[in-house]
Amino acid sequence: MKILVTGGAGFIGGNFLQIMTEKYPEDFYVCLDKLTYAGNMETLEEVLKRKNFRFAKGDICDRSLVDDLFRKEKFDVVINFAAESHVDRSIENPSIFLETNVLGVQVLMDACRKYGVRRFHQVSTDEVYGDLPLERKDLLFHEDTPLKASSPYSASKAAADLLVMAYHRTFHLGVTISRCSNNYGPYQFPEKLIPLMIEKARKGEKLPVYGDGRNVRDWLHVYDHCEAIDEIVRRGKEGEIYNVGGHNERSNLEVVKTILKALGKEENQIEFVKDRPGHDRRYAICPDKIESEIGWKPKHSFETGIQETIRWNLENQQWLRHVESGEYRQWIQRYETLEKNS
Ligand code: NAD
Ligand code: DAU
Repeated sequence: MKILVTGGAGFIGGNFLQIMTEKYPEDFYVCLDKLTYAGNMETLEEVLKRKNFRFAKGDICDRSLVDDLFRKEKFDVVINFAAESHVDRSIENPSIFLETNVLGVQVLMDACRKYGVRRFHQVSTDEVYGDLPLERKDLLFHEDTPLKASSPYSASKAAADLLVMAYHRTFHLGVTISRCSNNYGPYQFPEKLIPLMIEKARKGEKLPVYGDGRNVRDWLHVYDHCEAIDEIVRRGKEGEIYNVGGHNERSNLEVVKTILKALGKEENQIEFVKDRPGHDRRYAICPDKIESEIGWKPKHSFETGIQETIRWNLENQQWLRHVESGEYRQWIQRYETLEKNS
């Protein structure tokens, strides 16, 4: 199979490519990524050495570039990870979220239709369901829970999901959607809660916890999410939505205290700061459908996964330092020079 992975230089797409290019040497993977601030070619350093991989720099909103790529490559499958993904940034500037997360998806699906792509998989999020009350532990998100997005980010993802299902019904495009809960693991950009707090704890800085810190997220290791997407693409039914999660609810305060304890730091590093506007209270996924229909189950427990992630962040200071200094953004220039000279 020839598989297009968009947004593969980001956190989840990068982990996906690392795992899948090794697991399926008979398949060929192409990564299309605009290399925004969140795209990091250093995440793909090993993948770039593999024979079944090629990188293409470009924007999923660029219709002629996308058309050209699809015409040349004749993809069987397209998996769309590309997105603006940070809720706080969507509150600052919603426009780019609508462009990439909605219009970009339309451009990709139009190309899928034109070039006969068999499966378009949209990597979506549990945030499209809005939030659940803290005091109702019995309530979980199901695939038919109504969409009720809270932030410009989640609204853009919900809009894309509606568009994907509309392309299935109207044009019979072979689509699937996965809606996963919060991911953690290696190579996550240090603007997100876990890598941010690890860095701040390590440096002895204050850890900014929004509001009262009681907001709950349902954490899943990124490797489990990647396996779920691969299984859905290979075994999932066209036109179906699959929730992905592992019943791992933790309050933000619990997560932050776990990090401080692992690093031998004091809890007085915690600082309660102004709450995020529209801050979702609780996410909780019911993964029964993917477990019963596809047989996927998470393999990583939060207890060991978080310790491994803390270790990864401590041991990969070069990756983090290059992110902080902006040096990772020079990578593509070095890569392009190498390509030209080879
Ligand atoms: P990320 O921000 O780490 O990476 C996004 C990648 O997309 C980057 O490499 C970026 O350069 C690329 N990109 C952005 N705009 C682009 C464009 N216009 N054209 C081409 N490439 C573009 O995001 P992530 O955390 O890896 O999330 C990946 C996907 O998974 C997103 O769709 C997100 O909504 C979804 N998701 C994330 C989580 C999570 O916890 N991180 C959970 C569930 C779902
Ligand atoms: O649920 C899936 C979603 O998880 C994905 O769709 C998003 O792409 C991903 O970014 C993530 O969204 P969150 O908003 O839940 O993740 P974030 O890491 O930004 O925040 C996690 C929680 O921690 C949230 O309740 C806000 C809080 N927080 C976050 C930061 C960055 C803080 O208290 N302080 C912080 O500095």
